[in-house]
Amino acid sequence: MSHQSIIPQTPLESKEHEDHYNKICKDYNHLMETMPKSNGWRVEHLYNYNGFWINPIYIKANLLLHAYFKPQPTDIFLASFMKSGTTWLKALIFSTLTRHLYSFSDHYLHHHGPQSTFPFLDSECESYPISDFTHMCSPRLFATHFPRTLLPESMASCKFVYLCREPKDVLVSKWVFMSKLREKDLPPFSLDEAFDLFCEGVSDYGPFWEHVLSYWRPSLESSEKILFLKYEEVKRQPEVVVRRLATFMGVPFTTEEVEKGVVENIVKLCSFENLSNLEVNKKGVEKFGKVEVENREFFRKGVIGDWRNYLSDEMKQRIDGIIDEKLKGSALIFGA
Ligand code: A3P
Repeated sequence: MSHQSIIPQTPLESKEHEDHYNKICKDYNHLMETMPKSNGWRVEHLYNYNGFWINPIYIKANLLLHAYFKPQPTDIFLASFMKSGTTWLKALIFSTLTRHLYSFSDHYLHHHGPQSTFPFLDSECESYPISDFTHMCSPRLFATHFPRTLLPESMASCKFVYLCREPKDVLVSKWVFMSKLREKDLPPFSLDEAFDLFCEGVSDYGPFWEHVLSYWRPSLESSEKILFLKYEEVKRQPEVVVRRLATFMGVPFTTEEVEKGVVENIVKLCSFENLSNLEVNKKGVEKFGKVEVENREFFRKGVIGDWRNYLSDEMKQRIDGIIDEKLKGSALIFGA
């Protein structure tokens, strides 16, 4: 399946708007003809856009985001590499920030999938015109998989919660997920192929190591703007992480809340066991642009170290060697 040129779908408000949008379309079409491409996981090809392997839909989205998205200084972004536990963090962030609005016995998350709690910016920018999001209460929450270097400089005043995960677990989780969503006219996608591509840096929003470093480095300089988290630490100490999240977002828990068990209630509400067994997460569907994903696909095993059931010793050695090399000198390490 080849990419499609973008043409205006709706009448534009003025000649100036039209010219601006046409220029973006031209840039996009030019990029599609000039960027290196490689095999995709879900779609046929990923393109190397400013150093990252991106699905064409999100290259267009990135251009529209730069042109039309207006960040506010109070915005909070959940940025993550795909399959690092975004769904979980969405639930934790949302229920922490809105803890005064819902009771834990009848909560929004009992009836809605975590993906619906706040917009996934990459999909929201897929088509013109993008929403202006001015209806959202402050602080506005957004999720994105874009690396920091592909986001506008104007977001520097916003806060980012970045979530990453041990790369072998990411690889396995992503292969299972993308294989299920893979376009039907494409040949099957083996774990061996996914493994080789991942090691070359080729997977949606990859290279993995460039993605994590794009947030890791600035997080060392401005920890008040970027909270850098790993899936494994959320798993090991969820209460500690939820308290850090609340403080980072500017809504720390009061002593009274802590004594009343609010932190534990949030952790329990958002646990894999609780969320994955809710009817809405067993049967519900979420739309991301044109792609529909069943909520249950976001809940597989939710454990650390499942890669051991998929990767050989040789594969482990190879991927660990690559990650060590790429992260050398950064002080960022992954265990497990
Ligand atoms: P596995 O495939 O290893 O089970 P994302 O939300 O970024 O797509 O990541 C999905 C991964 O997070 C999946 O990992 C999924 O099972 C896991 N996950 C989802 N909800 C979780 C939760 N509440 N607690 C722990 N892990 C969770």
